[in-house]
Amino acid sequence: MAAPDTSAALEPATQAPALLPASAGGGVPVHVGIIMDGNRRWAQARGLPRALGHKAGAEAARRTIEAAADSGIRWLTLFAFSSENWNRPEEEVRDLTGLLGLYLRHEVGQLVKNGVRLRVIGDRKRFGPDIAEAIITAETRTAGGTRLNLNVALSYGARAEIVAATRAIAADVAAGTLRLEDVTEALVSSRLSTAGMPDPDLVIRASGEQRLSNFLLWQAAYAEFTFPDVLWPDFGAEHLRAALAEYAGRERRFGLRSG
Ligand code: IPE
Ligand code: IPE
Ligand code: MG
Repeated sequence: MAAPDTSAALEPATQAPALLPASAGGGVPVHVGIIMDGNRRWAQARGLPRALGHKAGAEAARRTIEAAADSGIRWLTLFAFSSENWNRPEEEVRDLTGLLGLYLRHEVGQLVKNGVRLRVIGDRKRFGPDIAEAIITAETRTAGGTRLNLNVALSYGARAEIVAATRAIAADVAAGTLRLEDVTEALVSSRLSTAGMPDPDLVIRASGEQRLSNFLLWQAAYAEFTFPDVLWPDFGAEHLRAALAEYAGRERRFGLRSG
């Protein structure tokens, strides 16, 4: 009996590892995520009430959205309120949600004018009917925007997002509408709140802290990171430019080798 042909199985090990495509690094990232951190420290350093730090943070978000649209980025995800931020003192949560409602209502006209399409990711139901309504209105009114896709992560936590996707997949398998072998990375991605969106290429965290704090854990698997030493309310076009320049000089390997 002839020996089984194992050459196909051995092939990858005997071949030189694939080289990176020329487009693997540099250029303008398609999707940038930003962790907008440092509002309270900014207010504290100025002897101002904390709420004014959050208000200045909202202004920085406005500037950054315009700078991103001008820079050629196609997707921008701003982390504005985490699922863990609900555990802050009640008064601060009230300040933050109040500001959010104001922002959603006041900024829509400018977003439409600038060609920005807004989507919210996260557990929007937790905010109550007023804000949930303002979110739907903002998403509907900006739906025609083609210059920049803006995601605002609100009441967002990546672990909760992954748990929700896992439950939905398990329910489908239990119901017999999905086969176990069809559960792939692509399928999991398609069940997250970022379904159909490109993964972030670059994640920027303001304020000097160097952690993800439960932001896009699955999606940022191969993102590049920068940690500019600036509190979020001081962030502006020049900081975005600097992060993009740093990204352009990075070599992204995705587990491959460069030569
Ligand atoms: C970011 O600023 C805003 C939110 C997390 C809602 P912080 O309020 O976390 O400010 P710092 O990090 O304590 O300075
Ligand atoms: C992360 O900042 C969340 C947002 C910026 C919305 P936090 O200030 O909540 O994160 P930790 O607590 O420093 O990790
Ligand atoms: Mg913080």
